[in-house]
Amino acid sequence: MSKLLITGGAGFIGSNFVRHILKKYPDYQVVVYDKLTYAGRLENLQDVADNPRYTFVRGDICDAGLVDKVIQKHRIEAVINFAAETHVDRSILNPGSFIQTDVYGTYVLLEAVRKFDLRRYVQVGTDEVYGSCPQGSFSEADRLGPSSPYSASKAGADLLVLSYFVTWRLPVVVTRSSNNFGPFQYPEKLIPLFITNAINSQPLPLYGDGLNVRDWLYVFDNCEAIDLVLHQGQAGEIYNIGADQERTNLEVTELILKTLNRPRSLIQFVKDRPGHDRRYSLDCFKIRSLGWRPQRKFETALAETVQWYQDNQDWWRKIKSGEFRLYYEKQYGKTLTGTAEVPGKKY
Ligand code: NAD
Ligand code: DAU
Repeated sequence: MSKLLITGGAGFIGSNFVRHILKKYPDYQVVVYDKLTYAGRLENLQDVADNPRYTFVRGDICDAGLVDKVIQKHRIEAVINFAAETHVDRSILNPGSFIQTDVYGTYVLLEAVRKFDLRRYVQVGTDEVYGSCPQGSFSEADRLGPSSPYSASKAGADLLVLSYFVTWRLPVVVTRSSNNFGPFQYPEKLIPLFITNAINSQPLPLYGDGLNVRDWLYVFDNCEAIDLVLHQGQAGEIYNIGADQERTNLEVTELILKTLNRPRSLIQFVKDRPGHDRRYSLDCFKIRSLGWRPQRKFETALAETVQWYQDNQDWWRKIKSGEFRLYYEKQYGKTLTGTAEVPGKKY
């Protein structure tokens, strides 16, 4: 199984996974298939662009004809599907593209895996499908309770994937990971948004009381886990991937400010996200039984991530002055109007 199709490979986790595979497996060929939405960026893969074992194809996972052609042309043996619309707030503003890509796109890929009798299909999923976890932790057997159009679309995709195992014994596996952070994460998500705003001395818009809890997983640890599931996961199974590093958003925010030596007064409590899940928590016994453990501690990994955003300002400044600016105004415009913007600091 050395010829991989990595869909959504120009995004945050996908691009880190491409680097991981090319480095770890010297005989593997990787084809990245990505629509290059606002979140997909060829710069994310610039360092592998000249690698003869890497090919990029621009395409939509909903385009069955092109998916089939690429699989045949490159003699693909396995598909790892990262392609999705991924931002909860955008799914609240505009759910349609989430249903189209996350559900219908997954169906198109499954049909191709079935038609060409591929050896493995990995669906990269999320802990958000379980919904909020008031106490304890969710295991893979727990019922789904998605709260947003994003998580509902991802839940639909997971169920579709698993149905292809039950009906056709397709060799599928599903991962469900907690919140990732690290290099190349689009600065609409909490950690990169707050790091880049803090570097710019701009307000950090914390939703509600700031006490929602997420379990933070360094992206490199997730890449190791997905690799393990790709090679050793059991067909038809789901694997939770969490780091056991639960923090409130306020704790994360304070740590970012401290690392960057910025004042606490940059924190701005804003209107809560509708349907905002209070806490996510995963029981990761299954993936740990395969031998996986997260290698990085949250505080160390966050410091490395802050450093990466400090060292790669060209990457995110370009984003912040483009499409993202319009989105940001739409998302935060009302709540931020007339508040303490630091004079002279603009995107
Ligand atoms: P991202 O938004 O950074 O990247 C998504 C990628 O998918 C982009 O490159 C985009 O261009 C591509 N894409 C979107 N629609 C497409 C389409 N129709 N056809 C082809 N490509 C398309 O996302 P990410 O954070 O890297 O997440 C990757 C996967 O991991 C997603 O499936 C997401 O649901 C899942 N996930 C993410 C996290 C997280 O914390 N980031 C946690 C758990 C699960
Ligand atoms: O849990 C896995 C999921 O993590 C992935 O499936 C999603 O693709 C990914 O976007 C992420 O979803 P979240 O909604 O948890 O991530 P986000 O970074 O948007 O928000 C993290 C927390 O921070 C959440 O409680 C909302 C809060 N938040 C977020 C933003 C963008 C704020 O308080 N202010 C903000 O401006």
